[in-house]
Amino acid sequence: MGFKVCIVGATGAVGVEFMQVLERRNFPVDQLLLLASKRSAGTKLTFKGQPHVVQELTKDSFKGMDLALFSAGSGISKDYRQACVEAGCLMVDNSSAFRMEDGVPLVVPEINPQEAAKALQRNGGKGVIANPNCTTIIALMALAPLHREAGIKRLVAATYQAASGAGHAAMVELEESTKAYLAGQSYTPKVLPHPYAFNLFPHNSPMTANGYCEEEIKLAKESRKILADNSPAITGTCVRVPVLRTHAEALNVEFHKPLSVARAYEILGKTVGVTVLEDRAKNRWAMPIDVAGHDDVYVGRIREDLSQANTLDVWVVGDQLLKGAALNAVQCAEVALVGKLAPNANR
Ligand code: A2P
Repeated sequence: MGFKVCIVGATGAVGVEFMQVLERRNFPVDQLLLLASKRSAGTKLTFKGQPHVVQELTKDSFKGMDLALFSAGSGISKDYRQACVEAGCLMVDNSSAFRMEDGVPLVVPEINPQEAAKALQRNGGKGVIANPNCTTIIALMALAPLHREAGIKRLVAATYQAASGAGHAAMVELEESTKAYLAGQSYTPKVLPHPYAFNLFPHNSPMTANGYCEEEIKLAKESRKILADNSPAITGTCVRVPVLRTHAEALNVEFHKPLSVARAYEILGKTVGVTVLEDRAKNRWAMPIDVAGHDDVYVGRIREDLSQANTLDVWVVGDQLLKGAALNAVQCAEVALVGKLAPNANR
């Protein structure tokens, strides 16, 4: 038995990945409905070798559908939630709109799959699953198993975030501004607030009164919700770097209990969805170009922090469009509707 699936924001950076992930993981799709704004209505996209025409999103789009994968921004998610849920269609939402709402499960299927079922128990059987922030998912793929072992006391994160997190237009801006720079031409940024070619800048999410940007706050709050533990102290500095689609993160993690480097590698070596890439002799670790297009989150460079007891430094790299967005969302649908996860692919 298959499902009637719609993608909201099908023409966007994550929307296109939704289609590829559904196809690659053989998600049981009986019918696929591609939805975007009026601007893209009529555009043809290919799914399983067949052309599909993009339709304009309306409140009636969800009638008769089983699953809606949303990636068209928070505003669209808020505007269309009621229509989706009332139509009896499970909403898996990639935006930040409902992540911290009580009763909305925030799910990383390798960490808290049991939460996904809660969405199905609400609203007469169907509801909303929130897909966490990309940086948070990628960090927690490495940290959740270590937290279970030794308890995270404090996390200090430094992130190196790709253009894809700001959408397709930001990826185009990175490419075009780089070409312009190399051609000696001027380029005025249209999507991001600062020149992107051969540059980096603090994350472009809105700044808050305490000096943290929203991305840094999401990392702290969402991590605690996913771990179902409010005790870890979490701080971070999120930075946008000129990389197309894969985030890297340097995590300094203090634990309550001693955790050796060897034991951390042993745990992560057995963690589903994590690949350990460790070559100390060659000083060779996972880089965005290794991980782009891969489902797993790559981990390595685990070392003892010589400045403080019970503390490890960990290097984590994950494809923002896959585990940070489309893959995690499709996996949420797998655990909620199919009852099991399909295997990952690392190409
Ligand atoms: P469209 O291509 O018609 O603008 P990204 O995250 O890469 O920026 O993509 C955003 C996605 O959200 C696109 O598919 C975009 O469609 C879609 N979108 C933006 N505004 C709307 C809207 N008002 N109604 C439906 N989809 C929208």
